[in-house]
Amino acid sequence: MTETILAITGPTSGIGRGAVKALVNDFDRMLLLARNLEKGAVLKAELLELNPDLHVDLIECDLSVLASVRHAAETIKNRFDHIDCLVNNAGMVSTSKEKSIDGYELMMATNYIGPFLLTHELLPLVMNSERKQVIVVSSGAYKFAPMKRPFFKPKRYTPVTGYGRSKLGTLYLAQELHEQYSRKGLKTTAVHPGMVSTNIGKNNVSQSVGTFVFMLLDPFFKTLEEGAQSIVSAVQQPEKYAGFYSDEGEIAAVKQYGSDFKMRREFIDATLEELDLESL
Ligand SMILES: NC(=O)c1ccc[n+]([C@@H]2O[C@H](COP(=O)([O-])OP(=O)(O)OC[C@H]3O[C@@H](n4cnc5c(N)ncnc54)[C@H](OP(=O)(O)O)[C@@H]3O)[C@@H](O)[C@H]2O)c1
Repeated sequence: MTETILAITGPTSGIGRGAVKALVNDFDRMLLLARNLEKGAVLKAELLELNPDLHVDLIECDLSVLASVRHAAETIKNRFDHIDCLVNNAGMVSTSKEKSIDGYELMMATNYIGPFLLTHELLPLVMNSERKQVIVVSSGAYKFAPMKRPFFKPKRYTPVTGYGRSKLGTLYLAQELHEQYSRKGLKTTAVHPGMVSTNIGKNNVSQSVGTFVFMLLDPFFKTLEEGAQSIVSAVQQPEKYAGFYSDEGEIAAVKQYGSDFKMRREFIDATLEELDLESL
């Protein structure tokens, strides 16, 4: 029997970490795409303790750097001929305007452009598997702001609109995947995990403000296990969630900017042009 393979970004912390632990018995092999290999090695040991029969491969990948994404995808393509389920989970919040190495606004680069390129590169492997599944971790933040040109190098920026647009981008990616590949058997789900107490935004906010805000909000947040559950449910029930937006496990209608299909077309076409790709 062919071994079943899960590939996931951002497994070293938060929701992704919760998800791989919960899914430790669901696949024969896990490809952990991590920018920090030390954290990846600790996680690998923990997973092997939970399931000694699992095969775990650590792949270095910084999603904010196009060359790193291409290198990670090449490494995977050289070693494997299929991926049953690709989970685009990694994401970040930046409280100041920062540029990626490639010159893009950092949240757009990390949360959208890198995952778009990775998905493009790995899609043939996903389509070559039996399950053919892609999960995109978006966010309810997609409602924060409409997409606006220039898409990837904005002149004006606030953290809220910047994060919202990057997550709207991930939602458009999921919709585009569904539209183009569902007839060929691809099952795509966009997930909003809810408000979860993770590391997101905590590394790069001003210490006093950040700690105070998170201290106040923490009791209202979900635990990692609860937050991971929406990914886990989508992975475990591909048919139920295929083509849908899962709002904390509930299939929900996509509203506002999320259903601006004309803008989605423009945005996806601009991404393809930027990355010099003919199609997703
Ligand atoms: N927490 C929430 O309330 C919430 C709500 C809605 C959506 N989300 C989404 O859920 C996803 C997971 O976030 P989280 O809350 O679990 O945050 P987290 O605890 O900060 O985990 C984020 C993960 O992404 C990785 N990552 C960050 N930047 C990266 C880069 N440049 N290249 C590769 N990996 C990178 C991190 O790696 P390191 O371990 O090396 O830092 C970590 O593994 C994100 O897409 C986020 O937007 C979260």
